[in-house]
Amino acid sequence: MHPVKIGLLGLGTVGGGTVNVLARNTREITRRAGREIQVAKAFTRDPEKPRICGTEGIDLVTDPWEVVEDPEIAIVAELIGGTSLAKELVLRAIELGKHVVTANKALIALHGNEIFSRASEQGVMVAFEAAVAGGIPIIKVLREGLTGNRIEWVAGIINGTGNFILTGMRDQGRVFDDVLTEAQALGYAEANPAFDVEGIDAAHKLTILAAIAFGIPLQYDKVYTEGITRITPEDIRYAQELGYQIKHLGIARQTPDGIELRVHLCLIPARRLLANVEGVMNAVVVKGDAVGPTLYYGPGAGAEPTASAVVADLVDVVRVFTADPGNRVPHLAFQPDALSDLPVLPISEIETAYYLRLKVADQPGVLADIARILADHEISIEAVIQKEPQEGQMDLPLIFLTHKVKEKALDAAAAKIEALPAVKAPLYRIRLETLE
Ligand code: HSE
Repeated sequence: MHPVKIGLLGLGTVGGGTVNVLARNTREITRRAGREIQVAKAFTRDPEKPRICGTEGIDLVTDPWEVVEDPEIAIVAELIGGTSLAKELVLRAIELGKHVVTANKALIALHGNEIFSRASEQGVMVAFEAAVAGGIPIIKVLREGLTGNRIEWVAGIINGTGNFILTGMRDQGRVFDDVLTEAQALGYAEANPAFDVEGIDAAHKLTILAAIAFGIPLQYDKVYTEGITRITPEDIRYAQELGYQIKHLGIARQTPDGIELRVHLCLIPARRLLANVEGVMNAVVVKGDAVGPTLYYGPGAGAEPTASAVVADLVDVVRVFTADPGNRVPHLAFQPDALSDLPVLPISEIETAYYLRLKVADQPGVLADIARILADHEISIEAVIQKEPQEGQMDLPLIFLTHKVKEKALDAAAAKIEALPAVKAPLYRIRLETLE
């Protein structure tokens, strides 16, 4: 049988990794797909630029439309990122009846509803395994492996750069910017690293996971998102003293009132497997009602881990090329006319435990005043520690762990605590999840 010709949009970290994996594993991949997958054409802005892959036999073009419009190309792999040009190219490829593989989480999170609807009309596939958690086949797991379950919650470390930074700060005492620069050099970070450190990239991925897990539309604008930039080495140390690690998590939970969709730093018990996921590694825990908790672990970024997912999608597409479109696995796992309209909850309605850090004057009654305010808001305290003042400072750090409480109750208590004359800085909170 003739090889299937594919066109690559982008020949950077992921595109280059894809070419290398396809070249190195040609035989295995052909045996699996049933046909050889051949990179016929690739768009690159600068053909002279040094790159991680060879380009022999690939027609390099500097106009991406040449790839999309080429009638010989059956599958377009969109690996340029961004949501403007990428969206136009993907929609045009779909219009021309081509299948699409993409690693672009922003594109899927923001425009996936439209893209999948157009793809269904045209009877083509849009595959996006590489968009979430790099090399971990988590889309496959949720869309196919766990379809017998009602998914209760999904929680994961889904940004490799952020986890790499947190690990570097904790284990090597390095400063934030220094570790970020290394993550950029290793090809982990987004073109705009603010996406990594402000939680935007994780929110894109969580949007996709939640849609597939719960059968809801993609709703990126409803994700509550906090990044990792406000963490201090002291928080990491205090958390460890209390038996926790601080991780940046994406959490999606189905509750009777609605869906929780949130990305933020989190204390998790140090004994949890998730607490021991280090560096660029990602891990996702999925709790299904039948299977119980399951854990998926692997590299969340980097050339070949991401290429592993891109190539898996290419093979999937080639395998079902001729299958009746109506009999394919739905793009978002659930049949498009069977999506749920469960609302996404505002963060104020979410119930969780908290780590609270305060800076207070060293004087009698302060602890009692704070404890009283917490009690008045029915916030139960699990632990309190008072630390020595930091060098050159008079005020004391005071750390509380609370039991579970609605965020709006904590907001109200925080406002009162911050108004106490002895409290010298805004209360800093990190949510705490036991992941039980
Ligand atoms: N910047 C992303 C990360 C790349 O660090 O996880 C993979 O999506």
